Amino acid sequence: MRPQPTKKRKKGEKMTISDRAKNIKPSQTLAINAQALKMKKEGKKVISFAAGEPDFDTPENIREKAISAIREGFTHYTASSGIIELKEAIVEKLKKDNEVEYKTSEIIVSNGAKQCLFNAILALADPGDEVLLPTPCWVSYTEQIKLAQATPVFIETNPQDAFKLSAEQVEKKISPRTKLLILNSPNNPTGTVYEPEELKKIAQLLLKYNIYCLCDEIYEKLIYDKAKHFTLASLSNEVKSKIILVNGVSKSYAMTGWRIGYAAAPEEIISGMSKIQDHSTSNPNSIAQKASVEALQGRQDTIEIMRETFDKRRKYMVEKLNEIEGVSCLLPSGAFYAFPDVRGILDKGIEYKGKKINNSFDLANFILQQAEVALVPGSDFEAEGFLRLSYATSLEDIQEGLDRIENILSY
Ligand SMILES: Cc1ncc(COP(=O)(O)O)c(C=O)c1O
Repeated sequence: MRPQPTKKRKKGEKMTISDRAKNIKPSQTLAINAQALKMKKEGKKVISFAAGEPDFDTPENIREKAISAIREGFTHYTASSGIIELKEAIVEKLKKDNEVEYKTSEIIVSNGAKQCLFNAILALADPGDEVLLPTPCWVSYTEQIKLAQATPVFIETNPQDAFKLSAEQVEKKISPRTKLLILNSPNNPTGTVYEPEELKKIAQLLLKYNIYCLCDEIYEKLIYDKAKHFTLASLSNEVKSKIILVNGVSKSYAMTGWRIGYAAAPEEIISGMSKIQDHSTSNPNSIAQKASVEALQGRQDTIEIMRETFDKRRKYMVEKLNEIEGVSCLLPSGAFYAFPDVRGILDKGIEYKGKKINNSFDLANFILQQAEVALVPGSDFEAEGFLRLSYATSLEDIQEGLDRIENILSY
């Protein structure tokens, strides 16, 4: 039988894009970035705190492996879910760094962690299922959940609790339709890193209510001070059976453009994700897969150089932000973003072009126009009243950019 259309088209009605495509929220970050680019082209010295990627080159040893792969003609389709050599390197990495054992049949390699997340949501959530999403959250989760026709159920966290989700908060939001919880530690945009004890309590709920947990560990290596990364899947085999662990090489090895991410999960879930990948993109780039083997197995000292540099910038940025009246910023424990609370500025009612600035988008736009500094409004992360500033840029730019912001906000 032919599937019935969900809505009838009127005779002569113009065919247009699907509701699915229409319902995707346009990114305000992209709008700000486009404006910043335009200003740069006009010759303005715009400083950008909007970057979501390390400002370092991919280490030389990794690039060399990619060149060898091209020379050796490793330029054809590979197994759709990734080459066995890379899966073995991932299994080894997870055992060594995260103390969790997987078989290669429990691994998928995709076009970035982003595709792993999307594959997992599509493989697990049916239309109408609910996905618990702590906010502030990374922009793509919400839209991916909506694309799967599932429902995001937001759980608000706040600076008073260091943006940490409690098990009690999670339990209150669980319904018979809850399928999945998304946990991102270290977190983008807040930099929050969960302690093992906090995660253990949440794990108990996964077992009690039979809920899966998508653990996005992409910023795992970028952690500061006493914070330690804890992989929930390492807790027990029972908990592991509920986890889809997502990671990748983008942030740890400055390889955002290479598009390699991976997921580890029970075989049935990986098989569902692989079928989706087979029919959407097939294998991730063959050359980048070879380079990623080197990333995981080669020298690791470049991570520490990058981490130490981020650490210095992090401390400077947060200290300086807290000197601005109306701004309050926690010291993030991971990733490379500061996420200041700017409600004190919004309450001031600054007027710009005859309009009061009372939301984070207008404030980001005001800062871009007046200080020529690009940053991201909290509204893009489901968190009004905040701004996200990336410190994946030089200390000189951070110093000058923050001076400019202070100048326009302190009057
Ligand atoms: C929290 C989070 N998860 C996943 C990703 C995607 O990473 P990838 O470049 O590997 O697709 C990002 C990238 O910004 C991110 O911030």
